[in-house]
Amino acid sequence: MICVGSSADIEEGRSKGLEVEGAYLFAVKRDDRIFLYRNSCPHLGTPLEWEEDTFLDPDGALIQCATHGALFEIETGHCIAGPCLGQNLQKIPYLLDNGLIMVDEANLGKRNF
Ligand code: FES
Repeated sequence: MICVGSSADIEEGRSKGLEVEGAYLFAVKRDDRIFLYRNSCPHLGTPLEWEEDTFLDPDGALIQCATHGALFEIETGHCIAGPCLGQNLQKIPYLLDNGLIMVDEANLGKRNF
Protein backbone atom coordinates (compact mmCIF):
# COMPACT_ATOMS: atom_id res chain seq x y z
CA MET A 1 0.00 0.00 0.00
CA ILE A 2 1.14 3.51 -0.73
CA CYS A 3 0.02 6.79 0.85
CA VAL A 4 -1.50 9.25 -1.63
CA GLY A 5 -2.45 11.95 0.85
CA SER A 6 -4.01 12.83 4.15
CA SER A 7 -7.74 13.19 4.76
CA ALA A 8 -7.04 16.17 7.00
CA ASP A 9 -5.57 18.08 4.03
CA ILE A 10 -8.90 18.01 2.18
CA GLU A 11 -11.51 20.49 3.35
CA GLU A 12 -15.12 19.42 3.75
CA GLY A 13 -17.01 20.03 0.49
CA ARG A 14 -13.80 20.63 -1.46
CA SER A 15 -11.58 18.73 -3.88
CA LYS A 16 -7.84 18.19 -4.12
CA GLY A 17 -5.51 16.94 -6.83
CA LEU A 18 -3.06 14.23 -5.77
CA GLU A 19 0.02 13.00 -7.57
CA VAL A 20 1.92 9.95 -6.51
CA GLU A 21 4.56 8.07 -8.46
CA GLY A 22 3.42 9.51 -11.77
CA ALA A 23 -0.26 8.73 -11.22
CA TYR A 24 -2.71 11.62 -11.15
CA LEU A 25 -5.71 11.30 -8.86
CA PHE A 26 -8.12 13.61 -7.13
CA ALA A 27 -10.17 13.36 -3.99
CA VAL A 28 -13.43 15.00 -2.91
CA LYS A 29 -14.53 15.20 0.71
CA ARG A 30 -18.25 15.27 1.39
CA ASP A 31 -20.00 14.52 4.70
CA ASP A 32 -16.57 13.57 6.03
CA ARG A 33 -16.20 10.81 3.43
CA ILE A 34 -13.45 10.73 0.82
CA PHE A 35 -14.17 9.87 -2.84
CA LEU A 36 -11.04 9.09 -4.82
CA TYR A 37 -10.80 9.04 -8.62
CA ARG A 38 -8.22 8.96 -11.38
CA ASN A 39 -7.80 12.46 -12.82
CA SER A 40 -8.84 11.50 -16.33
CA CYS A 41 -12.10 12.46 -18.01
CA PRO A 42 -13.83 9.47 -19.67
CA HIS A 43 -14.58 11.72 -22.67
CA LEU A 44 -11.03 12.46 -23.92
CA GLY A 45 -8.79 11.36 -21.07
CA THR A 46 -7.79 14.90 -20.12
CA PRO A 47 -7.31 16.08 -16.53
CA LEU A 48 -10.56 17.44 -15.11
CA GLU A 49 -9.61 20.42 -12.96
CA TRP A 50 -10.41 24.06 -13.74
CA GLU A 51 -7.43 25.19 -11.78
CA GLU A 52 -5.34 23.64 -9.08
CA ASP A 53 -7.50 21.60 -6.67
CA THR A 54 -10.73 22.76 -8.35
CA PHE A 55 -12.71 19.76 -9.62
CA LEU A 56 -16.23 20.75 -8.57
CA ASP A 57 -18.93 22.88 -10.16
CA PRO A 58 -19.58 26.35 -8.69
CA ASP A 59 -22.12 24.93 -6.21
CA GLY A 60 -19.78 22.17 -5.06
CA ALA A 61 -22.57 19.72 -5.83
CA LEU A 62 -20.99 17.81 -8.71
CA ILE A 63 -17.60 17.06 -10.23
CA GLN A 64 -17.24 19.05 -13.45
CA CYS A 65 -14.71 18.56 -16.25
CA ALA A 66 -13.08 21.84 -17.27
CA THR A 67 -12.69 20.86 -20.93
CA HIS A 68 -16.30 20.39 -22.07
CA GLY A 69 -18.21 20.71 -18.81
CA ALA A 70 -19.30 17.10 -18.22
CA LEU A 71 -20.92 16.66 -14.80
CA PHE A 72 -20.34 13.66 -12.53
CA GLU A 73 -21.90 12.55 -9.25
CA ILE A 74 -19.41 12.97 -6.41
CA GLU A 75 -20.34 9.69 -4.72
CA THR A 76 -20.32 7.43 -7.79
CA GLY A 77 -18.31 9.20 -10.50
CA HIS A 78 -21.23 8.59 -12.86
CA CYS A 79 -21.57 11.15 -15.67
CA ILE A 80 -25.06 12.68 -15.65
CA ALA A 81 -24.55 15.37 -18.31
CA GLY A 82 -22.14 16.17 -21.12
CA PRO A 83 -20.38 14.33 -23.95
CA CYS A 84 -19.55 11.25 -21.83
CA LEU A 85 -23.10 10.89 -20.46
CA GLY A 86 -23.56 7.48 -18.84
CA GLN A 87 -19.83 6.78 -18.50
CA ASN A 88 -17.92 6.78 -15.23
CA LEU A 89 -14.81 8.26 -13.71
CA GLN A 90 -12.40 5.56 -12.59
CA LYS A 91 -12.87 5.11 -8.86
CA ILE A 92 -9.72 4.19 -6.94
CA PRO A 93 -10.20 1.86 -3.95
CA TYR A 94 -8.46 3.01 -0.80
CA LEU A 95 -8.17 2.38 2.92
CA LEU A 96 -7.94 5.05 5.61
CA ASP A 97 -5.12 4.37 8.05
CA ASN A 98 -4.92 6.95 10.83
CA GLY A 99 -6.26 9.56 8.41
CA LEU A 100 -3.85 8.60 5.62
CA ILE A 101 -5.34 7.61 2.27
CA MET A 102 -3.68 4.31 1.34
CA VAL A 103 -3.92 2.81 -2.14
CA ASP A 104 -2.72 -0.53 -3.45
CA GLU A 105 0.01 0.06 -6.05
CA ALA A 106 -1.81 -2.32 -8.37
CA ASN A 107 -4.78 0.08 -8.43
CA LEU A 108 -2.62 3.13 -8.95
CA GLY A 109 -1.11 2.36 -12.33
CA LYS A 110 1.70 4.52 -13.64
CA ARG A 111 -0.21 6.19 -16.43
CA ASN A 112 -3.15 8.53 -16.48
CA PHE A 113 -5.26 6.59 -18.98
S1 FES B 1 -12.76 16.05 -21.95
FE1 FES B 1 -14.08 16.09 -20.21
S2 FES B 1 -16.00 16.61 -21.06
FE2 FES B 1 -14.69 16.50 -22.81
